[in-house]
Amino acid sequence: MQVKVVMIGGSGFIGKHTAKFMSGNDLCVYDLVPPEFESEYVQGNVLDEKRLEKCVDGSDAVIFLASLISVPRSFDTVAEYMNVNACGAASLVEAIKNASKRPKRVILSSSAAVYGEGAYVCDVHGKVYPLPRSQDQLNKGSWEPRCPYCGREVKPLPQAENDELKPLSPYALTKQVQEWLITAMAPRLGYSAVVLRYFNVYGPGQRPDSPYSGVITRFISQAMQGRRLQVFEDGLQTRDYIYADDVGAANARALELEESATINVGTGIRTTVLQLAKLIAGRHGVDVAVGGYRQGDIRHSVASVEVMRTRLGWQPRTALEDGIAATESWMNESAHLKSESTP
Ligand code: UD1
Repeated sequence: MQVKVVMIGGSGFIGKHTAKFMSGNDLCVYDLVPPEFESEYVQGNVLDEKRLEKCVDGSDAVIFLASLISVPRSFDTVAEYMNVNACGAASLVEAIKNASKRPKRVILSSSAAVYGEGAYVCDVHGKVYPLPRSQDQLNKGSWEPRCPYCGREVKPLPQAENDELKPLSPYALTKQVQEWLITAMAPRLGYSAVVLRYFNVYGPGQRPDSPYSGVITRFISQAMQGRRLQVFEDGLQTRDYIYADDVGAANARALELEESATINVGTGIRTTVLQLAKLIAGRHGVDVAVGGYRQGDIRHSVASVEVMRTRLGWQPRTALEDGIAATESWMNESAHLKSESTP
């Protein structure tokens, strides 16, 4: 069935990959800049409630993608993160409240960052939620989280949707606020809320050239310039890397859900940053260095994928090696296009 879908913040990286799965739907992008793909487009700021209201009025579903995304940068620009991310979601809620014909579904792009360090197992105390690693601990190079009761080293568990949320950065907190606003207002405003907690998304179109870029595009870009890859901590921290097309497919799949739900979008596969760096360095013949750390980083993150399988009836398809190769091709092509357009 054709439905009218509004993608707020749809001109960015995730929007581009979601649009590929929207054929058959009537798509409208609301963003500050126009999308690179074919779509109806309304130019507007996410904080402009009136303009947003006009855009969502009469739509069937909204996919909310308008967010600032960097964990480290959020420590330097706290007010900006609160303003764009938290107030942006509040602005959407106001726009829906005031619309004469409200959408039936809101899909929120949330983040695994809401879990913070997540749950671990202590040999003595069972399931525990370690405290954030202290500056002192990090300065000593003691990287693994510890049991909050006995101080023993603990083993990470996959992050599950019903785990306690313990955001550790301004960015993560804004994602929790977005989740709360969109979910809590759903019954009042008559839409179902589908919260998708993305794990570490990468792929073509992700900005590679900033210190705040995701680690995969950052490493590929450095390797392509023949530079050494800098791995923080001891490189044994883990993440769950999911390819952007898979995230786009999950967004499209979520349009079919009638009931509210909170769902992890990850692969369930742990990869250490060192494995990742060696994989990329090996393709380009560059070195890997290990050391230093970033404030606010968590140590381990991998998705529990049960809810995704059962509620979305879906799982990601792209292997890390294939996703990296596709991202590299895109970066090669865009470098080529840039050099062609340079006089
Ligand atoms: C990423 C996303 C965030 C998302 C979260 C979900 C980006 C920019 N951030 O945060 O939006 O909500 O996943 O899990 O996409 N690292 C290095 N060397 C570098 C850069 C990073 O070793 O040069 C390490 C970091 O210390 C970290 C890991 O790589 O351990 C991943 O870092 P990053 O790609 O910035 O992502 P997250 O902080 O996990």
